[in-house]
Amino acid sequence: MEISKLGVIGAGTMGSGICEVAARAGLDVVFVEQTPEEVSAGRERIERSIERAVEKNKLNREGADEMLGRISGTTELADVGDCNLVIEAVPEHLDLKKDLFERLDAVMADDAILATNTSSLPVIDMAVATKRPERVIGFHFFNPAQVMQLVELVRTVATDQAVVDDAKAFAERLGKTPVVCRDRAGFIANLLLFPYLNSAARMFDQGYASREDIDASMQLGCGHPMGPLALLDLIGLDSAYEICEALWRQFRDDQDVPTPLLKQFLVAGYLGRKTGRGFYRYEAPESSKVADAAPPVGTEGTANITTVGVVGTGLMASGIAEVAAKAGNTVILRGRSEASIKKSKGAVEKSLSKAVSKGKLEQAAADEILGRITTSLEFSDLAECDIVVEAVAEDLPVKVEIFKELDRSVKPDAILASTTSSLSVVDLAAVTDRPDRVLGLHFFNPAPIMKLVEIVRTVATSDNVEERSISWIRSIKKHPVRCRDRAGFIVNFLLFPYLNDAIRMHEEGYSTPEDIDAAMKLGCGHPMGPFALMDIVGLDVTLAILNSLHQEFRERRYAPAPLLEHMVSAGYLGRKTGRGFYDYSQ
Ligand SMILES: NC(=O)c1ccc[n+]([C@@H]2O[C@H](COP(=O)([O-])OP(=O)(O)OC[C@H]3O[C@@H](n4cnc5c(N)ncnc54)[C@H](O)[C@@H]3O)[C@@H](O)[C@H]2O)c1
Repeated sequence: MEISKLGVIGAGTMGSGICEVAARAGLDVVFVEQTPEEVSAGRERIERSIERAVEKNKLNREGADEMLGRISGTTELADVGDCNLVIEAVPEHLDLKKDLFERLDAVMADDAILATNTSSLPVIDMAVATKRPERVIGFHFFNPAQVMQLVELVRTVATDQAVVDDAKAFAERLGKTPVVCRDRAGFIANLLLFPYLNSAARMFDQGYASREDIDASMQLGCGHPMGPLALLDLIGLDSAYEICEALWRQFRDDQDVPTPLLKQFLVAGYLGRKTGRGFYRYEAPESSKVADAAPPVGTEGTANITTVGVVGTGLMASGIAEVAAKAGNTVILRGRSEASIKKSKGAVEKSLSKAVSKGKLEQAAADEILGRITTSLEFSDLAECDIVVEAVAEDLPVKVEIFKELDRSVKPDAILASTTSSLSVVDLAAVTDRPDRVLGLHFFNPAPIMKLVEIVRTVATSDNVEERSISWIRSIKKHPVRCRDRAGFIVNFLLFPYLNDAIRMHEEGYSTPEDIDAAMKLGCGHPMGPFALMDIVGLDVTLAILNSLHQEFRERRYAPAPLLEHMVSAGYLGRKTGRGFYDYSQ
């Protein structure tokens, strides 16, 4: 069926975006709101957004006027009677949507398609409120609808194949990528996204890290376009709350219980950007400019660190040595054998040469940086270091021996840091006579590129040591975020359960790695989907991190999906073995 005219019910955050997308594709659109004031507010929302596109030179004035000319607003539901397709985008309440579907059924032509933009409610419940359940489908856009590529098409047990085909063709005509999925709460993207967002909100609510640090961690550590709390504010905290509730109703899983703070925001009327206040305060309602940003940590104060020791000769050790030397520090790289220290310094040299060949660095500067790094086989050569960063294998007994050795060899006021990603830092602090001067500095791989460093404070770490470490991390041009000593810190704690959920979704047969990866890339703007990411990280590493999270928190959420364990047993570890969730053998 050729869709020539679109009806949209509700012109809030999503409805207004859908109107704009359809008008841009050349369709006539009529939207319905409850009162004349809300019709005006909806129209203004659309105009503001189109105006922004003009300001950014994405659209010329003529095109903008033409688009606006194709959109009309009304308070009469009957005015969508001649549309072939209606998409509702009213608030996420089932009773409201069911009532709307019943009324739409009465005014629409028999062959018209009724669609819902619900993020989490069962589409079948709306379908059975009509006399045409076979012509009802979920048409789920992502926020902002103008930008995000993905549309999830949700087919119920009753939806006709022809309706799915028409909806697919229509989504493509709008320039979107449709992914078809079955009717269960959260579909693909939200079922993976919301437990993650809820967990980030809980982390903030518990005071584990600041909102800026949580958001920066996921942006800089995972390349997400927005941090989870800023994203919740964009989505709208009322929608987010309802989505968590709907997930909980369907799966009865504790991870979906909305974090108490969300409810408090809701009651206070802090619904996120749309009301000008949520996790952040904004300059005005619907503004994206944060008005109460906290000043960045560690921009004041000096670290008093000039000589840096690095213990280890692997990927992380050579990366950290390079970063510190680049910032002008004198670096002593300590390894166990001549061959390994040579290889490690060679890795720095190679990385610097690459920068020179790309024109990012002068040869003379590269020589100078390399000249700042000396290597040694002896802990005693680290005696005068102001800080030593340990980056050896992720093995507690090995690290414990190194910390004992460092404590004996390095001057008493030096800071001892571990770059562990999953062990308890306090276990290392406890074997030294200076637990107040021990902390975690969790760099990300590859260290020369990734900006983020998690500053992990134990119960024993002193304020001064934390502050100096933060200043040092700033001085080597990295972005410090503060957290405490518990498994996963910020990034892994939020990232790995989400990866685990993706495996479970695939294991249950709800969707495929390809579709799940597409949904997270195109619906949430992630640089890669969970399966592509796990294949790079390594399935063995993924399993080890989940096990350490599970060991610490003992919740089902962290228990590795059986499929992951089986794949590791089979030796399918990802790219490094040529096979993981995808096959790399060709
Ligand atoms: N916000 C998101 O990120 C997002 C993303 C995808 C899908 N969704 C889903 O889209 C739907 C709308 O969410 P939103 O964020 O746009 O909400 P919103 O609160 O921004 O907008 C809802 C609009 O519906 C209007 N409305 C309420 N009752 C109505 C009625 N009976 N008739 C006509 N208009 C009515 C309201 O005046 C308001 O303008 C929800 O189902 C939500 O779950 C939201």
